[in-house]
Amino acid sequence: MQGYLKCLSCNSEFPLQQDLITCPKCGGLLEIIVHPPKDFSFKNLRGKGVWRYRELIAGEYKKIITLNEGNTPLIRSNHNENAYFKFEGANPTGSFKDRGMTVAISSAVTLNYKVVVAASTGNTAASAAAYASRAGLKSYIVLPKGKVALGKLAQSILYGTTILEVDGSFDVAMSSVMRLYKELKIVYPLNSFNPWRLEGQKTIAFEIAEEIGVPDNIIVPVGNAGNIYAIWKGFKELQEIGVIDKIPRMIGVQAEGAAPIAKAIEKGSDTPEFVNNPETVATAIRIGKPVNWQKAMKAIKDSKGTAISVSDNEILNAQRQLARNEGVGAEPASAAAYAGYLKLLSENKLDKNEKTVMILTGHALKDPDAMVKAEAKRILVNPEYIDKIILSDL
Ligand code: F0G
Repeated sequence: MQGYLKCLSCNSEFPLQQDLITCPKCGGLLEIIVHPPKDFSFKNLRGKGVWRYRELIAGEYKKIITLNEGNTPLIRSNHNENAYFKFEGANPTGSFKDRGMTVAISSAVTLNYKVVVAASTGNTAASAAAYASRAGLKSYIVLPKGKVALGKLAQSILYGTTILEVDGSFDVAMSSVMRLYKELKIVYPLNSFNPWRLEGQKTIAFEIAEEIGVPDNIIVPVGNAGNIYAIWKGFKELQEIGVIDKIPRMIGVQAEGAAPIAKAIEKGSDTPEFVNNPETVATAIRIGKPVNWQKAMKAIKDSKGTAISVSDNEILNAQRQLARNEGVGAEPASAAAYAGYLKLLSENKLDKNEKTVMILTGHALKDPDAMVKAEAKRILVNPEYIDKIILSDL
């Protein structure tokens, strides 16, 4: 596919070289600008999941490392026929990260790297560990100590990665990975500042467009701010080749205690003020210095979208409502998308007749502690009286 790389900080342009991850001139974020083939049509595609869209994914891959990620259910709400949940928890390691990881790890293998590294609030770690194992690469994961949900930590242990825990938030872990990548040139970084990873994540847009066309709104939980941009990029590229004629509004949702992008949008500012001690129950998005903030702002502005914040209470309520009214189990960060939807509806900033897709980024099982905080119907019972309990309950 034709295209080039462009730095978001110094505007330098480079050829579409897969070994470029950050700007070689200033270290800034690189955008992959591609011009998809004009004769592209969903009708000609074969296979399922991320690699179904191979002709729209930049880069060349000598070997594809895959666990059949993508092709996740788009579930229509029980309560509103215009609301949909894109259930990314159905990916092989239980989050949308697998879409990016198949591309990033395939890239690392293509470039002959032997060691991969990622900072993570948990999901990137689990995904990186799984795909690195599948590729036979050595992996190191840098985690904020004591702040990673149990399911994600357990996955990282199971897949056999080396876990490096730092005292401090994800942002401390992130800057140490950035330093490792820049100084120790032998490690391939799997974080979302790596634009090749986002090429996989943009397939969320392709799946939605292929299944239901273009919604009015896409609501995405925002942490390091790569995914909202990746989904926007997917829609933009389809629009460029005339497969769709408009793009959805991109709406980001952050947790109140970690909301630099939402606050910037509220204030009408172009640059977020970073948060030094981010805090939220939604540990996946407990991030104060989103590395991709420039990309997220671009996606939000270009699509005439917005970003809002929701409280921890709103997040946990939304998680329960999703589970108990819709039968959909999402982790707290993902439920933030639904909390944002409910908030926008209640403030009349979004209409229930608008076609809206919420991206439920990770599975409820990722965070068992959050689930057991919900008020439970749990009764210690003498087996002889079980019938009486049910009859008295009806
Ligand atoms: N939802 C979940 C479940 C996540 O794990 C993340 C990010 C996000 C939303 C936000 O996506 O960073 O692209 O804005 N998790 C990263 C991790 C940071 O390390 O697993 P984003």
